[in-house]
Amino acid sequence: MFNRWVMVFLVLGTSATWFVQAEDEVTRDAAQIVGEVCVGCHGVDGNAMVLGAPKLGGQKADYLAKSLMDYKTGVRNNAVMSAFSSALSAEEMEALGKYFESQDSTLSVPK
Ligand code: HEC
Repeated sequence: MFNRWVMVFLVLGTSATWFVQAEDEVTRDAAQIVGEVCVGCHGVDGNAMVLGAPKLGGQKADYLAKSLMDYKTGVRNNAVMSAFSSALSAEEMEALGKYFESQDSTLSVPK
């Protein structure tokens, strides 16, 4: 009986550690891509004021990932973003979506 519980804790503990590491990995990869590629137009938090570049900070992760895939596959047609998204995998698009969703939005609606 005792051994069975030890096993359960070992298994749970190991997978929890793995999960935390995997989360860190995804976050770092997305931040790295943003820092090297996207920052010039969208800013590090997705809220750059570059003319014509939409704000991404606080936007829904699924929408951002889908947008990137749509640029890559040609559903959305924009020369700049088609070029940048063509180098991204589906996993990286999801990670980038989560990264920008976790940033604050500076968008506001005029009253
Ligand atoms: C040279 C400037 C530039 C760079 C670099 C750039 N983008 Fe963009 N991005 C744009 C422009 C301009 C648009 C608007 C395109 C359009 O009209 O569809 C856009 C649109 C987007 C959209 C769609 C937003 C929406 O609201 O629909 C996403 C998502 C996006 N970019 C993510 C990224 C990511 C991730 C990177 C880095 C891998 C990146 N961009 C690099 C200029 C840039």
